[in-house]
Amino acid sequence: MTTERYQFFDHNPILPDVVEEVKQSLRETPKRLPPKYFYDEYGSALFEQITELPEYYLTRTEIEILNENKEELSRTIDKSCCLIEYGSGSSRKVRSLIDAIDPRFYVPVDISKEHLHTSAKAIHDDFDSLHVYPTCADYTEAIQLPDAIDGAPRCGFFPGSSIGNFERDDASLFLVNLARDIGPGGHCIIGFDSRKPKAILEPAYNDTQGVTASFNLNLLTHLNRTIGTDFKPTQFRHHAFYDESLGRIEMHLISETEQTVTLDDERFQIARNEAIHTENSYKYSLTDVQELASKAGMSLVTHWQDSKAWFYVALLRVPDDIQSGDS
Ligand SMILES: C[S@@+](CC[C@H](N)C(=O)[O-])C[C@H]1O[C@@H](n2cnc3c(N)ncnc32)[C@H](O)[C@@H]1O
Repeated sequence: MTTERYQFFDHNPILPDVVEEVKQSLRETPKRLPPKYFYDEYGSALFEQITELPEYYLTRTEIEILNENKEELSRTIDKSCCLIEYGSGSSRKVRSLIDAIDPRFYVPVDISKEHLHTSAKAIHDDFDSLHVYPTCADYTEAIQLPDAIDGAPRCGFFPGSSIGNFERDDASLFLVNLARDIGPGGHCIIGFDSRKPKAILEPAYNDTQGVTASFNLNLLTHLNRTIGTDFKPTQFRHHAFYDESLGRIEMHLISETEQTVTLDDERFQIARNEAIHTENSYKYSLTDVQELASKAGMSLVTHWQDSKAWFYVALLRVPDDIQSGDS
């Protein structure tokens, strides 16, 4: 059993699996690339820059909602619990939760290894009695959680509207797995970006400084470095738009030339102006949130929002009769 106050667990996806996943994604029509590969050390740093952009209202709005509702959170969530954060990034938002809940354990789960280590270490240094167990893993797969948290009540935290990166049906499957991680009677706190006019949504993904464009293009640089593709990032451009009927922002990389990309011995032809679909970001109405919770077999305890209803933070509860991942 782990007793140190800080321990790093590395369950990062192995390279042959990444290669296979990328090949399959590029064989599809239209071509796509999984958004989790935005995040190497540079991609994580670019995302942090995005969170500071004037157009990107999401981060500051969610932090404001969490801060304003600390007291209610502290009354609802078990003290001394284990807080598991999915896609923890800079671990910035969790600070007000740690203040409010005073958990015994914090398990930040993220695919971006170096950034995870730096952020988790800072939390360890800033919160004296907290046990911090960063876990580098892909949260779209089952996560192997540290043994040391066995038996502790758990609370899940999935901020940043990252739930919106899943297809709507996959979001409920993700929540079913999360509920198993959390166990009977546990809670989870999830951030949702609301459906709203194009005029607000589109600038958030098309900032004037071009940081989101660099973030999108970094996916290609990251894959070139890790699995040996030969994308030419300068021959692609960023494209993001809101599809109102589907309620989602789509991000694409558009090829500016006709080109061939090679991975191992496989060659992928990309036509001029062909798009590679890199990310969806689904937006949720309150009705969508309710439907998602009930599809995943959870109850929506309450939700909080900002004054403009641009963002929702929902508190969900896992039913008492669910089989936990421990059993
Ligand atoms: C949009 S950022 C959100 C960061 C932070 N939670 C926030 O709210 O500001 C998504 C985070 O999830 C991580 N991530 C993305 N896909 C992941 C996956 N499949 N498994 C684990 N982590 C993932 C990224 O590395 C990044 O830190």
